[in-house]
Amino acid sequence: MNLSMGRLDDPADAYEIYRVCAERDTPDIPPLSLESFVARLANPFPGADNEHYLAWLDGRAVGYLSIELPLLDNLDNANVDLTVLPSWRRRGAGRALLDLAVRRVRELGRKHVIAPAMSRHPDGALFATAVDAKPALEEVRSRLDLGTVDQARHAVLLADAWEHAAGYRLILWTGVAPDEIIDDVAYLDGRLNADAPTGELAWEPEKVDAAKVREGELRAARRGRSSYHAGALHGDRLVAWTRIAGDATDPAHAWQNITLVDPEHRGHRLGMLVKLANLAHVRELRPGLEAIDTLNAATNEHMLRINRALGFRALDSVTFWQLTV
Ligand SMILES: CC(C)(COP(=O)(O)OP(=O)(O)OC[C@H]1O[C@@H](n2cnc3c(N)ncnc32)[C@H](O)[C@@H]1OP(=O)(O)O)[C@@H](O)C(=O)NCCC(=O)NCCS
Repeated sequence: MNLSMGRLDDPADAYEIYRVCAERDTPDIPPLSLESFVARLANPFPGADNEHYLAWLDGRAVGYLSIELPLLDNLDNANVDLTVLPSWRRRGAGRALLDLAVRRVRELGRKHVIAPAMSRHPDGALFATAVDAKPALEEVRSRLDLGTVDQARHAVLLADAWEHAAGYRLILWTGVAPDEIIDDVAYLDGRLNADAPTGELAWEPEKVDAAKVREGELRAARRGRSSYHAGALHGDRLVAWTRIAGDATDPAHAWQNITLVDPEHRGHRLGMLVKLANLAHVRELRPGLEAIDTLNAATNEHMLRINRALGFRALDSVTFWQLTV
C-alpha cells in the first residue's frame, strides 16, 4: 500500500474525511456543509497560524491533519486535529501524520502537541496511548434539550438569582460587543484559562484584547456563525458574560461557550443569571433552536452544577491528549 502526504491545497479534499469522522464521533450534531467547512478554514480563530495536510493511501485522501500554532501566547504549544477515515485505519496513516506534526512542531521550536479525541469510539484513545501521549484534560459534553426544558423551574432559578444580584443590570447583544464593554469582554475572555480547570495541559492563559475579540466575532460571522451574548453590568463595567453560538446551516443546534464572572463579583448568582437571560435571548432570535451543547472540564463541578440545574445532561466526553516532543 502506497502512503504519501502533502499540504492541503483544496479544502474540499479534506471535507469528506471531516464529514465521515464527525458523523461517527458526534452523530447527534449534523456536520458542517462543504461551504461552511471551506469558510471555517478561510476564517480561523485570530491570533494563530494554521497548517493543513492530507495523507493518501493508494491515491485516495484518507487522513487529515490540521495544526494550529498560537502566536500571541502558548508559544510552546500546537493544537492538532488528526482524523483518518474509519475504513482506512490501522494502516499507518495516523502515525505518519502525527510524525509530520511532531516534525513541524520541533522545527518551529515548540514543545507540546495537544489533540482532542472523542470518547464515543476507542480508536483515538488507543492511538494516543500507543504513541505515548498523556491524557491531560477531560471535558464532558452536555446537552440542553429545549423541548423538555422545565420553564417553571427556570423562572424559580431566575427569581432566586435576582435576589442575590441586587445592584447589577443585564445587557444583551449579538456578534461584536458594544464599544463601551468590549475591553471588559476581552478581560473576562482572557481570564477563562486562568479560572477554568485545564487539568495537566501545558496551556497558559490567552492574551486577549478588544481587537482580538472583534476580529474573532467578525471571522465567526464569515464562517456563518451567529453569536448571542448576555452580561451583567456593575455600574458601567461588565463583570459577568456568557456566549451561545450557532451555525446558519444548522438552526436547530447551538453551542453554549464561555461563561465567566469576575472573581470580585462571584457569589451573586451572576453565572446563573446571565445564562438564563441568554437562553431566553437566543430562543427569541433563533426560534428553530432545539438543542444546546456545552463542554466543561470534568472537574469543573461549579459550572457543571449550574448546567445540571438548567437541565443540561451529560452525553459523552472528549479527552485532550498531550505529547511532549
Ligand atoms: C486516531 C486515528 C487518527 C488513528 O489513525 P490510524 O490511521 O488508524 O493510525 P495508525 O494506523 O497509524 O495506528 C498507529 C497505532 O495506534 C494504535 N491503534 C490505533 N487504533 C487502534 C485500535 N482501534 N485498537 C488498538 N490500537 C490502535 C496501534 O498501536 C497502531 O499501530 P498498529 O496498527 O501497528 O498496531 C484514527 O483512529 C481517528 O481518526 N480517530 C478519530 C479521531 C481522533 O480521535 N483523533 C485524535 C487522536 S489523539
